[in-house]
Amino acid sequence: VVNNRITWLFHYSALLSAVAEANVPLARAVNITGFHNILDIAAEHNLRLFVPSTIGAFGPTSPRNPTPDLCIQRPRTIYGVSKVHAELMGEYYHYKYGLDFRCLRYPGIISADSQPGGGTTDYAVQIFHDAIKSSKFQCNLKPDTRLPMMYIDDCLKATLDVMEAPTTSLSMRTYNISAMSFSPEELVQEIKKHIPEFQVTYNVDPVRQAIADSWPMKFDDSNARRDWGWKHDMDLSELVTTMLNAIGSDSRVAQTN
Ligand SMILES: NC(=O)c1ccc[n+]([C@@H]2O[C@H](COP(=O)([O-])OP(=O)(O)OC[C@H]3O[C@@H](n4cnc5c(N)ncnc54)[C@H](O)[C@@H]3O)[C@@H](O)[C@H]2O)c1
Repeated sequence: VVNNRITWLFHYSALLSAVAEANVPLARAVNITGFHNILDIAAEHNLRLFVPSTIGAFGPTSPRNPTPDLCIQRPRTIYGVSKVHAELMGEYYHYKYGLDFRCLRYPGIISADSQPGGGTTDYAVQIFHDAIKSSKFQCNLKPDTRLPMMYIDDCLKATLDVMEAPTTSLSMRTYNISAMSFSPEELVQEIKKHIPEFQVTYNVDPVRQAIADSWPMKFDDSNARRDWGWKHDMDLSELVTTMLNAIGSDSRVAQTN
């Protein structure tokens, strides 16, 4: 930070929901102690600090459809607990010490460039790889499990937008952001428009299903849209075309279009 004259810090390191649940001590060390290290550095050097939170920061007692910014947050995963902790500590440091803390609650993020990191929404990335490789996919969530999702470009745009937003436009320090919500069966139908022979079976993972059942189905992000002009670009049909193209099915997509 000192040698490179860093002024903005984006803190992404974390264990994601399913992985964290399988190793709680490591999740505490990375997601909580690691975050404390970042908070100290940011406060000491007067940095603008971005930390992503998640739909996992809500729990079974939160309103799920839609989930507003301010409501009950009693997550039952160590991942969710660590993210609520980060939201609250960041906001506390902002009000107490003037730290320029900015936080977005991301939906499940979908990207063609990286492998899923052990989260509950991983299926929505893996499904594209398997659809192209074998036209078959085994889904670890029930077909009607509806969760908020977003394409990576929208996620990066939102992150830069909130970091660049004038301080005076921010009425809060932690915002929901939303683009689309879908279930596995809806995603499958959309993929079948491009790959009609695509076959999906369901083998539900009880740990991931329990997590998904306690998470928001849809985010209310009206505060982000009002305060700093958040607007997503990509909806479900565009997402599917983009992912299939990016992962390498250009010829098949072209045939069906
Ligand atoms: N992927 C999503 O859908 C999603 C949704 C909401 C929020 N987020 C948040 O975005 C961030 C990044 O998620 P991702 O999907 O890229 O996950 P990921 O698992 O791909 O990346 C996490 C990163 O943390 C690093 N890390 C783990 N332990 C570390 C340690 N001890 N020291 C330093 N680095 C360590 C890993 O090397 C990895 O690069 C996380 O904070 C996550 O909570 C992701």
